[in-house]
Amino acid sequence: MAKRRLPRIAFDYLDGGVEDETCLERNRKAFERYRLVPRYLVDVSTRDQSTTLFGHTYSSPFGIAPTGSTGFLRRGGDEMLAQAAAAANIPFVLSGSSNASIETIAAVAPQHAWVQLYAARDPTVTHDLVRRARDAAFKTLVVTVDVPVRSKRERDIRSGFGAAPRPSPRVLIDMLLHPAWLAVIARHGIPPFESWLPYVGANARALDVAKFLASQFPAPQTWQDLETYRRLWPGTLVVKGILHPDDARRAAELGADGVIVSNHGGRQLDCAPAPIEALPAIREAVRDRIVLAIDSGVRRGADVLKAVALGARFVFVGRATLYGVVAGGLAGATRAIDILREEIDLVMAQLGCRSLADLDGSLRTQ
Ligand SMILES: Cc1cc2nc3c(=O)[nH]c(=O)nc-3n(C[C@H](O)[C@H](O)[C@H](O)COP(=O)(O)O)c2cc1C
Repeated sequence: MAKRRLPRIAFDYLDGGVEDETCLERNRKAFERYRLVPRYLVDVSTRDQSTTLFGHTYSSPFGIAPTGSTGFLRRGGDEMLAQAAAAANIPFVLSGSSNASIETIAAVAPQHAWVQLYAARDPTVTHDLVRRARDAAFKTLVVTVDVPVRSKRERDIRSGFGAAPRPSPRVLIDMLLHPAWLAVIARHGIPPFESWLPYVGANARALDVAKFLASQFPAPQTWQDLETYRRLWPGTLVVKGILHPDDARRAAELGADGVIVSNHGGRQLDCAPAPIEALPAIREAVRDRIVLAIDSGVRRGADVLKAVALGARFVFVGRATLYGVVAGGLAGATRAIDILREEIDLVMAQLGCRSLADLDGSLRTQ
């Protein structure tokens, strides 16, 4: 449904990966390598998939990963995802290149929204973004580290995403063939990256804000910067995009509270391992010192359970809920969450698990 609703320039941005998209494929294949062995003759008439993470008991072991430009895909998409997450009692991570501002989302989902940081080249901007997140009473800051450069996303290059401000005739015709999406853009314009507006000018146009963001991002980032964020951020600090055990260990040593083992949904390094493959060694390296979460390639409830059985405390989904919000707005986002939640519940019953703690021992590799 999301594909039908969006012109190619927007759908390919949502759906695509880097270069040959082998990483994108590997993320799925890696989950398929694992089996969950059912256990029967257990009374599973009541099942509980709740998980406590950083002091909050969430109703499911998954949350919504940060995705930039969501408002371009569906007007108000950030707000809808945040609202759906809060209603379902799961976390929603606001992207560093979101359309809705930090302050807006703090008001929409005060107990459930986390905020993701994309550092700017100008450190005063970065520090101000962190300050604003703190002042808006966010409890959890997610620092994404896997974008040292803009990656070569060939679908975006072909479709013209993020290129010329004036779409080519081919792109225009495709937009005209998707009137539901186009009507909203024609009426309201392309939404700006609202968190970045104050650094450009309150009345700046979306294009000016996008140009500013492009001039500031990606910024060079080192371990020293992570130390700085740890000093600036009084709350929970999570590092997203880790795939090497030594990096996970170092993040823990610098005082991070958790890492998200992730390859950015196959959008950054095409030869990167699938997070599910990288997880066991990372778990071995950090043991229980920090919380380990995982994302990339999760499409089914069983994938969530496989990740938990392999030692992840929590799982994030990017595209799964994006497809939902694009297809059906708030109801679509809620539906996507419900589908995953229901699948987790059904698979738990087959595995003889009343709670996630019972999962141990259900996993087999091929
Ligand atoms: C359209 C799109 C935009 C994304 N934007 C961001 C972003 O702004 N910040 C970030 O840390 N990760 C971003 N990601 C990566 C997601 O947070 C997450 O790691 C990835 O989507 C997980 O893979 P999945 O889509 O297979 O679930 C984006 C992913 C997608 C699909």
